[in-house]
Amino acid sequence: MNGGQQYRIESFPAAMDGDSADLRTANWFDAVFFGFHDGRPEQGDLPKIIESYSRDQRVLTGAYVSQTPEAAWDPAMPVATYGTMVNTLNIGAGRLLPTHLVTAVTVRPTHRRKGLLRRMITEDLDAARRQGLAMAALTASEATIYGRFGFGAATFTNEVEVETKERFAVRNAGAGTVEVADPAVLLDIAPQIFTDFHQNTTGSIGRQDAYRHRVAGQWNEEKLEPDKSVRAALHYDDDGRIDGYVSYKFAGWDMTPPTIKVRDLVTASNEAYLALWSYLGSIDLVERVKFPSAAVDDPLPWALSDRRGYSITGQEDVLWLRILDPVKALQERAYSADGEIIISVQDPLGWTDGTYRMRVSRNEASVRHIEGHGNTAADITVSVNALSSLYLGGVRATALAAAGDLQCADPAVLELVDNMFAAPSAPWCITHF
Ligand SMILES: CC(C)(COP(=O)(O)OP(=O)(O)OC[C@H]1O[C@@H](n2cnc3c(N)ncnc32)[C@H](O)[C@@H]1OP(=O)(O)O)[C@@H](O)C(=O)NCCC(=O)NCCS
Repeated sequence: MNGGQQYRIESFPAAMDGDSADLRTANWFDAVFFGFHDGRPEQGDLPKIIESYSRDQRVLTGAYVSQTPEAAWDPAMPVATYGTMVNTLNIGAGRLLPTHLVTAVTVRPTHRRKGLLRRMITEDLDAARRQGLAMAALTASEATIYGRFGFGAATFTNEVEVETKERFAVRNAGAGTVEVADPAVLLDIAPQIFTDFHQNTTGSIGRQDAYRHRVAGQWNEEKLEPDKSVRAALHYDDDGRIDGYVSYKFAGWDMTPPTIKVRDLVTASNEAYLALWSYLGSIDLVERVKFPSAAVDDPLPWALSDRRGYSITGQEDVLWLRILDPVKALQERAYSADGEIIISVQDPLGWTDGTYRMRVSRNEASVRHIEGHGNTAADITVSVNALSSLYLGGVRATALAAAGDLQCADPAVLELVDNMFAAPSAPWCITHF
């Protein structure tokens, strides 16, 4: 379909024209909603989205054709969309790495598989690395798309269901108190609590502005209108400081058993996390709580009096990382063991290809790009994808080696790599973008 067309690619901020969205911005949203099978955007909603996008400092990219036949969508409507913003990634030990986030990737069915995604993403990532960003990240609709561009899955969440009938009790949920609140208070409170969570949680990505509107029930999933079924509770520590919230919805009387669905559960401490679960389990007329974003090493089952009431019903890969600058990225994080390794990196886009010497002393790495592949014998050989998966400690080098994604001839070196990259807890990202 539509063979031989030339595409013009433009990048721009989301913008207003007087009281309404400017045409280029409105068309871009129309194309994104089309790509993700949403209804056409309400024109009256666009100013709110544009304000939110402006806070995120997003850059919108569209690909355009110069002409279309009569009655077809006109050429001002992009045939492909792409969006970016910069936010921070918690890479462990409270360190936050500025990261290039990719979102809103769509290509119109009549223009797919002609290299539009490849062109947009390679030009964009190339520009990001030239600007000095060491890492790119995205969340993927399908696991088969982004490997060819150097991305590897790096964080995971479990979808869990917790039975909250008679046997439910959370042990050790002692400190502080929980109170019900109007969800609207989360507009201001949610970002503050998220900031603490983000600072404490390896794998967390800083949140875009839209989150606070959604968890506060101001924007529902379909439209940017208040969702009156959203409920909220807050946790107060012993000093009366709010250090956690849960935003949730009752799934409706049609669902058996009666179920609460957690939209967002964010806390600055384990005590607040357990106490909010204790609250969720004490909601009468409900027998089950569903939480789609539990940590892989969730403490909850260990804190339940009946751990069999906790079921993992699915696992999702959340964050896909792509190291753009291995020297910078590897030097920024802290390590769990000292030692020296020579890493040969292979990059499907060529940017990070080469051999790197990494010396870790007192948990800090110094990394040098020694040369292209060649004279120096590498201890491990790895694709930039697998190195990006390894980066936060969400997978062990041993597992990557067993899968054939990492080559290492010496078991003692493999153990050293495992120990170096090990993280105190599994990386956990509760932000989708
Ligand atoms: C995914 C999507 C953006 C791909 O766009 P595209 O312009 O057709 O992709 P390209 O032509 O640039 O293809 C680049 C490569 O990716 C591959 N590819 C693209 N989509 C793929 C998919 N869904 N699964 C597997 N491989 C895919 C192509 O085969 C091509 O491979 P090659 O370069 O090794 O030959 C497009 O299919 C789309 O809009 N999908 C619906 C929305 C969506 O899923 N967006 C992603 C959100 S994270």
